[in-house]
Order: sequence, then structure tokens, then C-alpha cells
Amino acid sequence: MALLLLLLATAAPHALAKAVPLSSSVMIFSNEDFDTRCPQLLQAAATHGSNSVNIVPTFYWIDDRFRELPRTCNPDGWAASSKVDSYCYYQAGKEGCQPWTKKAVAEATRGFASCLTLAFDLFDEVLISPHLDDGTRTSHWRNMLIFDPLSPDVNGFSYYDIMIRPITRAATSALSQKRAGHKAKTFWFAMQGEMGGTVFHHPQSYITIASMIRADLKRVSATVLVGVLLNHAYLPGVVNRGPDAPPFPLPGTPLAPLSGGWGPLLPFDEWPGSARIAAGLPAARVLLRSVVDFMGISNYNRAPADVTVDDMENAVAKYDAELAAMGINFLDVLKSGKKFIYNEVAIGGGVSECGNVSATEPWQVGRYPWMGIFSGYKKALDPFKTFMPSDADVPARSYMRSWYSSLLKVLAQGGVKYPVSGSYIWNCASWDVQGIFTRSGEGSYADPLTVDRIQKHNAAAAAEAKRGA
Ligand SMILES: *[C@@H]1O[C@H](CO)[C@@H](O)[C@H](O)[C@H]1NC(C)=O
Repeated sequence: MALLLLLLATAAPHALAKAVPLSSSVMIFSNEDFDTRCPQLLQAAATHGSNSVNIVPTFYWIDDRFRELPRTCNPDGWAASSKVDSYCYYQAGKEGCQPWTKKAVAEATRGFASCLTLAFDLFDEVLISPHLDDGTRTSHWRNMLIFDPLSPDVNGFSYYDIMIRPITRAATSALSQKRAGHKAKTFWFAMQGEMGGTVFHHPQSYITIASMIRADLKRVSATVLVGVLLNHAYLPGVVNRGPDAPPFPLPGTPLAPLSGGWGPLLPFDEWPGSARIAAGLPAARVLLRSVVDFMGISNYNRAPADVTVDDMENAVAKYDAELAAMGINFLDVLKSGKKFIYNEVAIGGGVSECGNVSATEPWQVGRYPWMGIFSGYKKALDPFKTFMPSDADVPARSYMRSWYSSLLKVLAQGGVKYPVSGSYIWNCASWDVQGIFTRSGEGSYADPLTVDRIQKHNAAAAAEAKRGA
């Protein structure tokens, strides 16, 4: 029997690979959400049958240069390099983004603890994907934010102080309660989510942070995995690709041909700030090859109108190519035992950087999966028209369903070229196909047919895991 298994394993590396559930994400945008929305969203996520959940806590950064910009859609803002002058958080009843204080950090730590405790009660595996968003609300993108996570801001707080240490303290409390079954739990601790600029400009700090996390969580009764989560393009936080071929997304601004990062990868020496990135590469290679346990991707695959399984790893191929340009062989990293997850995967049905124009044609939905509708749920802007009973009138919805069917086929076999160990829907705005986060009096983006397919897929993955265990 052992010999047979060995032969099977040699002949077909994926033959024994496990099906991966399609899990949900819990979005936290302001600090009272830890107490109010976190429990609601976790309970909603648990009804979809995955053993895993992704918690996305969002705090904010302020780059003082952006304070004077108008607070409207700034369609090319995503590409601008940014720095941290201060970190801040939102809280209901308080005007604007609040600078951190020791009291606020203690409150956030308590919030993380209650949210994580319930998450570990409801799920076997919990991923945490820390985010910083633009606190000036002028459309800048966390991936292009370059900061040292160990350096203090003007108020004396570092990213480590406001984000990482609160999470390790909270996890210590959530996982030290000696509840039955906690030994079987896995905590996927991502040090950052979709923030590549900081990782590739300060890799040594992430090596240090990983060892601090491991030391702090040494005694918890769970498996702790430490990782980094990167976008599918512009990994080091710079525009390292040339223009894409048309058509481009709206509103047709000068940088629209660079949106999403689908143009050709430039030679390393032509990347903006390549000398600085090159200086960090020895440490970045150590971080990714030797230090982390897992890597993740914001997996917004572009697909043609007749989407198939073959289209569902093209964003990973870009990730692979950018790592290769930095001297990191991603398939070798995976073969060495690192795990790979789609920490964000979804399709938004938008065609504008401003999040206010819906796709109508299937090719548009497939071409701009990272774009969606930002507002709360409004029937008039729903690209998938979840309120319409008949499919015939909603080509964009039929397309979205095919896209998810192809994704589920990839997950059922644990990846095609790139083995995958976890996958999380971006449950926010029009990407929220399960209707977990974005609901209004007018309805939600939940598509009952896709919801049902995901639940059946998750049930099959759970049955397979049980047979394998
Ligand atoms: C979308 O938002 C942008 C920026 O606010 C605005 O200029 C544009 O007219 C809007 N488009 C639509 C169709 O509402």
C-alpha cells in the first residue's frame, strides 16, 4: 500500500492533493466593528460550509502631502508612491481619522481578542490579513506605500505597535483558553495584506517581525503560520510594467493603460527605484525562501468571454514572473514546502477606477475583475442584477457564474500548475457574491446559484478532508 501511494505520488503530484474550500472574508473598517460587525459577519461566513475564514482588519495611514487633495475619486492615485507620516483609525462618533494613543491600542487589542476568540470557536483555521487604507481618502493604494513597519510615526507608534502586537496579544488570549479542540486549530498570521512596497523595501524588518510573532505565540495551543500577502502585479510597490493593450478601464485617464498591471513586465533595471529594491533583495529572498510559512495573492484573474479553467491562474503567472525577475523561483519555493493561498479572489463587475460604472458585457466583467461598484447595494448599479429572476437578460451574471465555476474546478484539484492551500472571497461591495458584508434595503450581491455551488463545493472539500484524515 505504501509503495502504491508512493508510485501514485510520483506519477501525479496532484493526485493526492486536497480540494480547497472557497472561504469567506470578514471586513473590519472601523474599531467598533470588532464588537459589532465581526460577530455578525463571522456567523454569516460560517453558514457557507468552509472550515476557514479570513479576517481583514483595516487601519489607516496619512501621508501629509495628500491632505490638501480633493476627497473625490482620484483615478490615477493608485500609482503614486506614498509614505507614512502617521497611522490612524476610524471610530463611530468621532470625526475623521483618529491618531493612535495607548488607550486606543489597548481597546483595539481587546477588540481583536473578542473577534479572534469567536473566529476560533466557529472555524478550524483563521487567516488574518492586516490592511492599511488611505486615511486622507484620496484614492491612494496600500501596495505603493513604502514604510518600515518598525519605525515610529509622528505620534511614536509603529505599524508593529498598532497592528502586529495587538494581534499577537489577542491571539495569545484567544488561543490560550484551553478550549477543547484548540490544538487542531491553525492561525495563518499574515504580517500584511496586499502591501508589497513595504515588504520589498524593508524585508529585514519583516524577518524580525516574523521571529517576534513566533516568540510571542510559542506557547499557544495551535499551529501558527507566518506569511506575506502580495498583489498579482507591481509586487515591490512600483509600476514595473509597461502599458497594457486597449481597451482600457474608465475614466480614461493617463494611467488607465497601467491599471491592474496587465502590460509587459519591464527589465528589472528599468523598474522605478530598482537600485533600492536590489539592495533589499538578499533579505527579501531569505524572507520568502526561508522565513515565511506561506505566501498569498490578491488573485484577480483576467479571463476572456469564454472563461475556462485555463484562465484561472494567469494572475499567479504574473506574480511568478515578477518574483523570477527578483531572483526568486516561486515554484521552487512551493516545492520546498511553503503554502500558497488566494487571500483575495472575486470578480467585481465594474469597468471604472472610480467604482461607479457597471459592466454590461461579459468581456468587460472578465477583463477588469479587480474593478467593481463601491457604493452600498443599489439595484440600479448592480452589474449582476441579483433581483432579476431570468438569466437571459443578464449576460454579466451568466459570465460571473462561469467564472466562479472555473475557479471551483481549480480549487477542487488544489491548483493546476501552482498548488494552493486556501482561498478567500473578497466579501466587499460588488465582489461580495455571498452577500455577507454588503446589504441594503434594496438587496445584496448574493447570487443564490453561486452561493449554492460554493456550499456544495465546500461540503465536498470537507468530506474529502475527512476521508483523508
Ligand atoms: C464616476 O465618478 C467620477 C468621479 O467622481 C465622475 O467624474 C464620473 O462622472 C462618475 N461616472 C458616472 C457614470 O457616474
